[in-house]
Amino acid sequence: MNTTDRVLVYGATGHTGRFVVDELQRRGLVPVLAGRSAERLAGVPARHAHLDRRAVRTDDPDGLRRAVAGVGAVVNCAGPFLHTGLPLAHAAVASGAHYLDVTAEQPAVQALYRELDGPARAAGVAVVPALAFYGGLADLLVTAALDGGSRADEVEVAIGLDRWWPTAGTRVTGERNTATRLVVRAGELAELESPAPSGTWRYPPPLGEQAVVQLPFSEVVTIDRHLDVGELRSYLNTAPLDDLHDPAIPAPAATDESGRSAQQFVVDVVVRRGADTRRTWATGRDIYAVTAPIVVEGAVRLLDGRYGGPGAAAPGEAFDATDVLAALERDAGALVVRSAQAWSRSSISR
Ligand SMILES: NC(=O)c1ccc[n+]([C@@H]2O[C@H](COP(=O)([O-])OP(=O)(O)OC[C@H]3O[C@@H](n4cnc5c(N)ncnc54)[C@H](OP(=O)(O)O)[C@@H]3O)[C@@H](O)[C@H]2O)c1
Repeated sequence: MNTTDRVLVYGATGHTGRFVVDELQRRGLVPVLAGRSAERLAGVPARHAHLDRRAVRTDDPDGLRRAVAGVGAVVNCAGPFLHTGLPLAHAAVASGAHYLDVTAEQPAVQALYRELDGPARAAGVAVVPALAFYGGLADLLVTAALDGGSRADEVEVAIGLDRWWPTAGTRVTGERNTATRLVVRAGELAELESPAPSGTWRYPPPLGEQAVVQLPFSEVVTIDRHLDVGELRSYLNTAPLDDLHDPAIPAPAATDESGRSAQQFVVDVVVRRGADTRRTWATGRDIYAVTAPIVVEGAVRLLDGRYGGPGAAAPGEAFDATDVLAALERDAGALVVRSAQAWSRSSISR
């Protein structure tokens, strides 16, 4: 395995990729900028212009292997990940580098777990997809709520946004991701009912009570990977979905010097085991910006050895979830995490 502080960011030209490059530098790592277009890489912000740049397409396996040579980890920020995940991960593992990505797409995570676990173990590296706002954050919160346990009768994940300014990458990824979404029912991955159940959810401040619909993302696949859960349902409030489906809504705009938009989020997790119900939630700003400290925290830990060992793994399986959440709150100032025993139940029509 490589022991270097160089981290290749594929999709460094994108909105999320730029936040990731900034965060890697803040953490003292050395980003290598990569993407499919030399022209787009030539146009990165002036503050990134001194960094190494490597243009390569994902349908060029030899080129990908050359591009990742000499880096310790690859952070893939180029979606749809159904397109980019496997080629990048194969190249990373073949050259002895860890692989991380920020996918919200369930089938992309399933494919990586299926195809890369064996090769990653053999190469002595880790493959950790979905270490991002959608996917990884809920996985970490559920793992932390279980407090060392690995079994729950019921888990509910309710993501709430006050609005959504979607990037072009989000819109394209949403359009391409046509697979039937998965939940966990009776301990097994199962298809979400159609139409998806809807109802209301009482979020912690600042959102309060909101109309929601079941809309599972990659957290279902990651949680199923390492936790024994009887029932797992995920919800999103419907107001930001209206933004997502409105082509007139613009991409996010920076409202502070770090580039964050004014968007506010809550990720609310309720875990029931027997008579014990625990609620843990994270609040913060800008789902794209917050993805950078989340995935970079993983890269830092893979490079300094604070992870569970080689192979393909869920975020809460690869890392100490409680410690990661504390680091995101304390050091990166990215989140506020709170928990409570009591829970006033939401009303979801089933
Ligand atoms: N799970 C989460 O919470 C989370 C958070 C943030 C982002 N994401 C996902 O991450 C992806 C990127 O989002 P974004 O906000 O950064 O979007 P964006 O600003 O539109 O950037 C998209 C990036 O992906 C690259 N790309 C797209 N298709 C590609 C392909 N076929 N081959 C190689 N590169 C390709 C683009 O390269 P060019 O510059 O050459 O066009 C660009 O670098 C999306 O899929 C989004 O859904 C997920």
